[in-house]
Amino acid sequence: MTIILGIESSCDETAAALVTSDRRVLAHALASQIAEHAPFGGVVPEIAARAHADRLMPLVEQVFTEAGMRLHDVDAIAATAGPGLIGGVMVGLITGKALAHASGKPLVAVNHLEGHALSPRLADATLQFPYLLLLVSGGHCQILLVTSVGAYRRLATTIDDAAGEAFDKSAKLLGLPYPGGPALEVLAAKGDRRAVPLPRPMLRSAEPHFSFAGLKSAVARAVATGAHQAADIAASFQFALVDCLIDRVGHALNQLAAEGAMPKALVVAGGVAANGAVRTALQNIAETRDLRFIAPPLWLCTDNAAMIGWAGVERYGAGLIDTLDVVARPRWPLDDKAAIVRGAGVKA
Ligand code: KG4
Ligand code: ZN
Repeated sequence: MTIILGIESSCDETAAALVTSDRRVLAHALASQIAEHAPFGGVVPEIAARAHADRLMPLVEQVFTEAGMRLHDVDAIAATAGPGLIGGVMVGLITGKALAHASGKPLVAVNHLEGHALSPRLADATLQFPYLLLLVSGGHCQILLVTSVGAYRRLATTIDDAAGEAFDKSAKLLGLPYPGGPALEVLAAKGDRRAVPLPRPMLRSAEPHFSFAGLKSAVARAVATGAHQAADIAASFQFALVDCLIDRVGHALNQLAAEGAMPKALVVAGGVAANGAVRTALQNIAETRDLRFIAPPLWLCTDNAAMIGWAGVERYGAGLIDTLDVVARPRWPLDDKAAIVRGAGVKA
């Protein structure tokens, strides 16, 4: 049995966790920066980096206290090394390096996206490779075939906004507080999803990718007319976005079926996986296609350090450790062979 300390600081959540190879989360602690960023309507990188620097070590100490352990009890330290806001990533990675150096334990530099991609295996011991992963967060919207630890094939990405970004921007247009995704879901439950006709970009496109900028612009126009209830716009937006996600997942499954490479499970991860309508629709498509559907519990969908600790367990178990000169990376695609997609440079 191995015990890994996980550290996460790539966006606006500072987090630490102690995770074991037999899938126990011994302790996890998280400090959200929502209050600091809310006045600005989005994450301010400089504020985020300073907040991570202030809070990370107290959270690390907290998880050791809660688990009744000391630094020397862990087998390795896993820290997010990208992609993300570089100031925050540097705070977490340098903290991980310092702890690794002080304890003489190995460092595992984790790709934040790999943390999301492997998190369903922490939640479900029976999930085997390969599986199809829909990764939907504030910064990313991708479909990946997860073949093994460290082996990811990207089948689709967004050519403009990520799904969570579309939720957040649309929520802002509707006057909802940051972060908008959860607030928009609550409002949508009170509205009529057929009230406002909205576009579904890329629907049935032969290209595999996502696009949400046009949907967000249509929300802006619907708000500007003043003719609709906010709840109806929210419900119609969520309906349209879910249609887009399902259509693109269907496209990816068709492609894999044609290649004779159908996976046995469909998995969702990332903050938007917390959305009930998204989960239900994915469950339906999985049933139709005779696939297992796996979604991690909500707390494991949004950013956290348990998923980084678990990715650390998987990488450490595979002998994938890093030296202390590993660099923090603002961009770090999981599939470095995937073609760069028009307009998608910053979302790779
Ligand atoms: O994975 P995550 O915590 O951070 C990133 O790596 O981006 O994802 C955060 C994103 C935000 O855009 C947030 O609005 C969205 O996930 N989100 C939701 C819900 N909960 C979080 N979107 C829709 N419905 C939700 N319930
Ligand atoms: Zn994330």
